Amino acid sequence: MSNLSKSFSQKLKDKTTKIGIIGMGYVGIPLGLEFAKKKFSVLGFDKDQKRIDDINSGSQVMKHIKKEEMRLFIDNKGSATNDFTKVNSMDCLIICVPTPLDIHEQPNMSYVESASNLISKNMKKGQLIVLESTTYPGTTKELVKPILEKSGLKAGEDFFLAYSPEREDPGNKDFNVSKIPKVIGGFSEGCLKVTDLLYKNVVSETVKVSSMETAESTKLMENIFRAVNIAMVNEMKLVLSRMDVNIWEVIEAAKTKPFGFMPFYPGPGMGGHCIPIDPFYLAWKAKEYNTEAKFIELAGEINRKMTENIGHRIGKALNDDGKSIRNSQIMILGLAYKKDIDDVRESPALKLIDLLAFKGAKISYHDPYVREFNDKKSMELSSKNIKLQDAIVITTDHTKVDYDLIGKHAKLVIDTRNVMAKINNPNARILRA
Ligand SMILES: NC(=O)c1ccc[n+]([C@@H]2O[C@H](COP(=O)([O-])OP(=O)(O)OC[C@H]3O[C@@H](n4cnc5c(N)ncnc54)[C@H](O)[C@@H]3O)[C@@H](O)[C@H]2O)c1
Repeated sequence: MSNLSKSFSQKLKDKTTKIGIIGMGYVGIPLGLEFAKKKFSVLGFDKDQKRIDDINSGSQVMKHIKKEEMRLFIDNKGSATNDFTKVNSMDCLIICVPTPLDIHEQPNMSYVESASNLISKNMKKGQLIVLESTTYPGTTKELVKPILEKSGLKAGEDFFLAYSPEREDPGNKDFNVSKIPKVIGGFSEGCLKVTDLLYKNVVSETVKVSSMETAESTKLMENIFRAVNIAMVNEMKLVLSRMDVNIWEVIEAAKTKPFGFMPFYPGPGMGGHCIPIDPFYLAWKAKEYNTEAKFIELAGEINRKMTENIGHRIGKALNDDGKSIRNSQIMILGLAYKKDIDDVRESPALKLIDLLAFKGAKISYHDPYVREFNDKKSMELSSKNIKLQDAIVITTDHTKVDYDLIGKHAKLVIDTRNVMAKINNPNARILRA
């Protein structure tokens, strides 16, 4: 392996390493961009033909990644394909495919399996394969490695294998791929070394850990930490609101403690491709070891109930105005699961829409990042449209929204993000929820 190591390192030094990224989505695109910026030749592999065409024509694929950046990717010899035979001409393959839950809330590993099979059929000696998708401890060794070894090549002898979790936070202007330390676990010492050399080209800091399972568990711990703390603050909101204590004021005050406290904020439920899903990967794996992950299950239960709770608050608020949910005009403000991005996966706003529509409400939505969804268009946020609503429910605190206009013209605002607190003398009745 040491000869393979030497030639891998030499290619990195010469910047001739060809990087293949399997899965050009929220994680794969920014990662590919970073390598392209450092003058590496990047080929994105995807199964979605439209995604491939958009990338190759330099179109803006996601609202938070500027068109100029996508152009830069192309100008720096980046491209995308669905021809997986080209895997053979890569030096390194980084897997960034989805890891959702199935209908029974169990890990759906079909994307990782399919990507691993496509690599296995086309791989060659000396390549580095890295899994970045979030997953349960043991995936890379127990699932990915045996599939790759169907090629006849052996991990740690003929090819390098590693796991390195993605910590991308789409839309976060303070942290992009290059500024976020990268945790790496290798199948062997040699695998760890070459993976470390690779990522050092695009990130400010690498964190080497003793095994792939440690790296897999690190990512889960980060997301479980968020899920549990969000559940804690959501539960506190429900308790404190009964006592007429403002949770947002409590958090601001608690934040002044210079040690031992980190703020988390309540909301209408959990959304996105990580927090509502990843913790359950560990809960599922725990069962194999005859143990339970009670915190994870409880946090999931509390966070899921928040959407239902907002539904009740809307019903009560309308009732106070002498109205019912049935036939009321309700505008949902924000479809994306968090501010300033266009990602609606698992978004609590969608669950709320289903819940209110089921009860007979006439639903519209406004989201500056999601122009169209399920054949419905984002409604213009004009004073006329605002006045037409019986209630406006703020589910996402996008920056690009005129909250003053809402405060001026709305009848009733149900604010799950505390954005209306900053509006002076609103005419609208505003309920923190
Ligand atoms: N989105 C985030 O903020 C984020 C952050 C950290 C980690 N992650 C993790 O990263 C992984 C990818 O997430 P994402 O948000 O980028 O997903 P995504 O859905 O945005 O992108 C995945 C891409 O993979 C493609 N794909 C699916 N199967 C494929 C296959 N067999 N071969 C080639 N391409 C295939 C899809 O067409 C899609 O373009 C997940 O495990 C997720 O949990 C996501």
